[in-house]
Amino acid sequence: MTKNVLVGYATRYGSTREVAEVVAATLREHGLAVDLKLAQEVRSMEGYHAVVLGAPLFMFHWHKDALKFLSRHHKALMNLPVAVFVLGPVHDPHDEKEWQDSSAQIKKELEKFPWLTPAALEMFGGKYDPSKLRFPLSTFAGAEPASDIRDWDAIRAWAGELVGKL
Ligand SMILES: Cc1cc2nc3c(=O)[nH]c(=O)nc-3n(C[C@H](O)[C@H](O)[C@H](O)COP(=O)(O)O)c2cc1C
Repeated sequence: MTKNVLVGYATRYGSTREVAEVVAATLREHGLAVDLKLAQEVRSMEGYHAVVLGAPLFMFHWHKDALKFLSRHHKALMNLPVAVFVLGPVHDPHDEKEWQDSSAQIKKELEKFPWLTPAALEMFGGKYDPSKLRFPLSTFAGAEPASDIRDWDAIRAWAGELVGKL
């Protein structure tokens, strides 16, 4: 029987959507049937055997649509394997302190959902483009340089390993 997997994602600037697309494509290459959807547009878990939820950190919190997704589908998700990926660090070169801070942020966010034991949990580097920021964020965040530290090999490898865990 083909396994049906939902890859749900939340994004503000689009970089997490591109990661979700690669995760979905990799799972399909491994023979899974995948629905790729914005987390906020998912109405039901019916028909899914497993879920992958991906979203970025913003201002020390996980994207609100990812948090809402977990709250809204709490009951159904308790009976499904759920893998989680998070985008956060953007400093280039690699900044260990930033990665530790981002990991602490997602840990704190997921503690709000004690019923959730992710089948896999991974942090990926993100993309930062100050030219896309609008006021008032642009006034204090605009000084950081643009970066894109998404590691596509690591993303594909993680998604490939998910197949055995979901
Ligand atoms: C205004 C702003 C605030 C951010 N705050 C955080 C944060 O608190 N922690 C973190 O790890 N990453 C933070 N990031 C980095 C984002 O998670 C990263 O840019 C991510 O790739 C954005 O995803 P998206 O393109 O899917 O919206 C922030 C980025 C922006 C633009």
